[in-house]
Amino acid sequence: MSRYIIRGGERLSGTVRISGAKNAVLPMLAAMLLTEKECVIRDTPRLRDVSVMIEILRKLGADVEERVDENTGSLSLMVNPLRIITHEVEENLTRAMRSSIFLMGSLLGRLGKVRVAYPGGCDIGPRPIDLHLRGLAALGADINEKFGYIHAEAKKLTGAEIHLDFPSVGATENIMMAAVLAEGTTVIRNAAKEPEIVDLQNFLNAMGANVKGAGMDIIRIEGTSGLGGCEHQVIPDRIETATFMIAGAITGGDIYLDNVIPEHVESVSAKLRESGVLVEEKTGKLHVACDRRPSAVDVKTLPYPGFPTDVQPQIMALMSVSEGTSVITETVFENRFKHADELRRMGANIKIEGRTAVVKGTRTLFGACVEATNLRSGAALVLGGLVAQGLTTVEGVEHIERGYEDFDQKLRSLGARIQKLTG
Ligand code: EPZ
Repeated sequence: MSRYIIRGGERLSGTVRISGAKNAVLPMLAAMLLTEKECVIRDTPRLRDVSVMIEILRKLGADVEERVDENTGSLSLMVNPLRIITHEVEENLTRAMRSSIFLMGSLLGRLGKVRVAYPGGCDIGPRPIDLHLRGLAALGADINEKFGYIHAEAKKLTGAEIHLDFPSVGATENIMMAAVLAEGTTVIRNAAKEPEIVDLQNFLNAMGANVKGAGMDIIRIEGTSGLGGCEHQVIPDRIETATFMIAGAITGGDIYLDNVIPEHVESVSAKLRESGVLVEEKTGKLHVACDRRPSAVDVKTLPYPGFPTDVQPQIMALMSVSEGTSVITETVFENRFKHADELRRMGANIKIEGRTAVVKGTRTLFGACVEATNLRSGAALVLGGLVAQGLTTVEGVEHIERGYEDFDQKLRSLGARIQKLTG
């Protein structure tokens, strides 16, 4: 087990480079199984979730080579999925990471069958997969769930019209992957519009697929008979971008973020500006500065392009030390306020009523021993520690490192007093 020890009070300054997007890489790694040709993805973040997905691909029979660019130090993955020796996804790896559910779409497309353990929920909610299964069934898959496994089989996948009850990111991606080799046209309505969906479309089309409309409500996929290999540069991680923007704001700092796509964090930039934080684009970098106590603002999480649920814990940390009272509404997940209890241990004044948190800003937080139970809550506790008086210990760093590459190193490079202790 590892923990961070943080001494608060340092105003961050300097420039930090944002890594490639975890939530873009994970579906792409699954999508590579749709072809027998080698694919390369560049600027892959070094994260536990990515390592687990690589392990899953290797167990399925794919060759995966990791190569570090000697100039930039960034990681590229070369995947040769020629030899896929089984349709059964390793159970304990599935439990380690929910994104293994993406393999249903790609293995159905490649092999016509797949067996995967039912992915567990996590502490932000039950995380059902009914929309995934209904979408795959609409394409012709015969799905059986028994003894904690899902078996899906399809002699032939046929294009279909699918309307998602909710714009689910994972369900949209899973259906896209199953549809690219289906016969005929698939239309996904009420599709998720996240930038990672657009990146997946670009990746699939680079392999020779015919996908249009990603980023809009309706995605149209014309089935093709086979796919080739491709090379692809992953988009920057917009959630890591937002997390560092808030790190700059909460410490009263003045920082620059490199390797960002400002449009992908527009909803977060708007909220921070409303709160009195300077956010501006400068020569391809994002400049974030805050020279006074931020003002409380209300936040409501929504599917993209609304305010991202994955930044709700982090903005709650900022609101905990803002001037005034903020109402934060979490509309995407059922139970995503676990970090409130831990922020309270640091002196935050937060009242939870169902899916709403009422945050009464206090002048400062105080260092405490707190525990991360998922990656975004953990990031929020680190942000609290950066501004708290005294020492904060954040337990459960392994959760945080699922989604943040070199998190403590990047924060130290901006002047934060943070150390990682293991054991
Ligand atoms: C993706 O999860 C992200 N993960 C999550 O990021 C992110 O929070 C989420 O999208 C929302 O943006 C990856 O991309 C790997 P959903 P996903 O399906 O696909 C309900 C992080 O911190 N739902 O859009 O699982 C579900 O319960 C992680 O990086 C169904 O009801 O999210 C939830 O309430 C956390 N049935 C809502 O939809 C389904 O079949 C959004 O879920 C699927 C989802």
